[in-house]
Amino acid sequence: MESAEVARRFLTFFEERGHQVVPSASLVAEDPTLLLVNAGMVPFKPYFLGQRTPPSQRMTSAQKCVRTPDIEEVGKTTRHATFFQMLGNFSIGDYFKEQAIPFAWELLTRPREDGGFGFPEEKLWVTVFDDDDEAQSIWHEKVGVPLDRIQRRGMEDNFWSMGVPGPCGPCSEIYYDRGPAYGREGGPVADEDRYLEVWNLVFMQFERGPGDSKTDFPILGDLPAKNIDTGMGLERMAAILQGVDNIYETDTLWRVLDRAAGLTGARYGRDRRADVSLRVIADHVRSGTMMVADGIRPGNEGRGYVLRRILRRSIRNLRLLGGQDAGLMHELTDVAIKAMGEQYPELVRTAANIHTVIDAEEDSFLQTLRTGTAIFDTAVEEARRSGGRTLAGDQAFKLHDTYGFPIDLTLEMASEQGLQVDEEGFRRLMREQRERAKKDARDKRTGNLDVSVLDELLTGAGGEVDFIGYGHLRGDARLVGLLVGGANAPAAGEGTEVEVVLDRTPFYAEGGGQLADHGVIRLGNGAVVEVTDVQAPLPGLIVHRGRVLSGEAQAGDSAHAEVDVERRRAISRSHTATHMVHAGFRRALGESAAQAGSENSPGRFRFDFTASGAVPAGVLRDVEDEVNEVLVGDLDVRAFHTSIDEARAMGALALFGEKYGDEVRVVEVGDYSRELCGGTHVARSGQLGLIKVLGESSIGAGVRRVEALVGIDAFRFLARESVLVAQLAEQLKARKEELPERISGVVTRLRDAEKELEKLRSQQVLAIAGSLADTAKDVGGIAFVGHRAPDGTGADDLRKLAVDVRGRLVARPAVVMVTGVPKDRPVVVVAVTEGARERGLKAGALVGVAAKALGGGGGGKDDLAQGGGANPAAIGEALDAVERAVGAA
Ligand code: ALA
Repeated sequence: MESAEVARRFLTFFEERGHQVVPSASLVAEDPTLLLVNAGMVPFKPYFLGQRTPPSQRMTSAQKCVRTPDIEEVGKTTRHATFFQMLGNFSIGDYFKEQAIPFAWELLTRPREDGGFGFPEEKLWVTVFDDDDEAQSIWHEKVGVPLDRIQRRGMEDNFWSMGVPGPCGPCSEIYYDRGPAYGREGGPVADEDRYLEVWNLVFMQFERGPGDSKTDFPILGDLPAKNIDTGMGLERMAAILQGVDNIYETDTLWRVLDRAAGLTGARYGRDRRADVSLRVIADHVRSGTMMVADGIRPGNEGRGYVLRRILRRSIRNLRLLGGQDAGLMHELTDVAIKAMGEQYPELVRTAANIHTVIDAEEDSFLQTLRTGTAIFDTAVEEARRSGGRTLAGDQAFKLHDTYGFPIDLTLEMASEQGLQVDEEGFRRLMREQRERAKKDARDKRTGNLDVSVLDELLTGAGGEVDFIGYGHLRGDARLVGLLVGGANAPAAGEGTEVEVVLDRTPFYAEGGGQLADHGVIRLGNGAVVEVTDVQAPLPGLIVHRGRVLSGEAQAGDSAHAEVDVERRRAISRSHTATHMVHAGFRRALGESAAQAGSENSPGRFRFDFTASGAVPAGVLRDVEDEVNEVLVGDLDVRAFHTSIDEARAMGALALFGEKYGDEVRVVEVGDYSRELCGGTHVARSGQLGLIKVLGESSIGAGVRRVEALVGIDAFRFLARESVLVAQLAEQLKARKEELPERISGVVTRLRDAEKELEKLRSQQVLAIAGSLADTAKDVGGIAFVGHRAPDGTGADDLRKLAVDVRGRLVARPAVVMVTGVPKDRPVVVVAVTEGARERGLKAGALVGVAAKALGGGGGGKDDLAQGGGANPAAIGEALDAVERAVGAA
């Protein structure tokens, strides 16, 4: 049974039982406690916590997940993988154990021809939490599982949470017995290789607090309702149903693995090390492809770092298998896109972008490997010089951090050199860096707030702050949360930095590339809070940051919020302009010009998009021209809500990383642009006035950035340029349109004049050649000329002069030495005739003698050589030294 069919059966089964099928959310978690979605329930967390109302109390999904804590284990075992899909059914306060358990049993044991998975009952075992008699009796009495195939386990195995504060509960797991060939008798408690976990049913009913271990954290209380969260690993289920040994041999992963083997000539199943590499490549290429498709870009922190690591580990393992060439990743990505495309058609649609990103990362890493190797060699030399046999942890870290060298590469190269690596030191630095990265990513959104405070604020705001800012720039509200230094405070006096939550607000929180609104909040008691930043650390929670300007802010007070209108309007102009420029580029460059980020600030915006090379100046001009022409048509800008399918059908551009909720907001500018967007916009395109594209540049592999001005800022820029041109015209006494020709004429004449001058100078220098030859003195039978040219004579002319004089003395044994000071350092040229060479006088050696006196070096051939030094005052001495050397020959 194909993987896609496993997912289809699961979803259909639950759909037929009243569950709404929810599409997978993006891997980019909308949750400050997570970098990436790592379980099927992540998108449902706010429903469990009662912070949001679910679209339905029964839902089912196949969710993309990435888990990387065990990345080093991937491939070494066949159980680990960084990417997987989790099938789940969810009840939000609807059914509980008594129904979840029979549902699971029915789907697993129903014959395949009837839409089930067809497991023989006697092959299934279950576990329940220590004191969960209720679950045990449902399994035994209602479902009929014999007691000797029900085992009890403790917190470690049968109590589930996300590992962070949030919903949790006891769970019951279902295991499949693969038979005696795979291990010992005795059920899952005895052997988890033989008995494979296939499904985890979590009875989500408590809320937990912080705590680092799986077993030690406080239970804060009950959730608003009793819920069900289940998770079935699609890959593992597919392996069992396809009758293969492990997930790497299932249809989708196998295609990538097999191609990797084909490309590198490795044979799977022959050699353990090669097998590990092939599995790493198969998993990582698929994982990387899925992450890029969700808008993640390789980088040095947060998710970008995870992605970079995954891609680089793939490339590294390809090399270990002998695959050195550029372009292998492209081939493998192509296979991954096709293998996953049936379940995720967007992969096929955006294939060009995925390739652009991954190809660029491959290019840059191969470059890294080339330069990094040189750095590595230096580090080895240093270690050797200091007598050590160990490469320092900070060296390994630097190689990793600055040059992107994976540690296993460093380890391997070091061992080839007979060196060890201080891995402990390296890992400590890595830990510190990862902590920093995690914190950085969170800090901006959450400030110094911890998650439990955020949850509290959200609850205080009734589960969701009502954003009224699309239609209103001011409005009445109530101050439902007041924080000072990250902690709840009843009041805050004048001058205090505060964070304020209102039950409703017109303030737009930074997001979707649009900067935050500024403004003021006036409280009922007369106090005024100035707002200088607005963030949404959790979906539905809007936090205003700023300072109490006057009076005392008090929690619970009534409030009147006023957005800074000028700023908001300028930002909105930028945002609409970004949409139009985006549309313009897609028309000009095709689908592959997909937005990769943007920033809409007052009067100015930048827009990043994927493209394999620089955008030609002509295209920039055309796009700018078209957008300006369209915008003066004063098109209607309209925002409306619709379903994601409807939006797609209308051709709305869905950006990477979109969360596929049921309803989306579409913003359209006439017929010109249509995008999913939560931002604020102008009402008519004419309000933009004017757009001026400033230029285009590269901001990383495969990503280009266009910067532009809009409205009055665009006008002022052009006005300044116009003044500049007028000044130039005035200075050159030309009409504006004549300027390019005039300037090019001036430049050409200047260049000609310089050449002429140069020629004259040479002639002048060479003019004295004849008289110089005449001054040759006899030094032990050799004609010797020693000459110092005027300061400022160029090295070329010194050379020409020496050669010219030698030509006049060619019939005799002669040595000509010409020196001078072209800039501030002395230069010496020595030319010798054949007759002198026969007497053993070599130009190179004589230059050496001169250079020594001048405090420098030099060299050349026997007949002509040049050198230099540092000390012009020693020129006389150099002349004497060479003369003496000639005399001694
Ligand atoms: N949330 C549960 C898990 O991930 C089902 O195992």
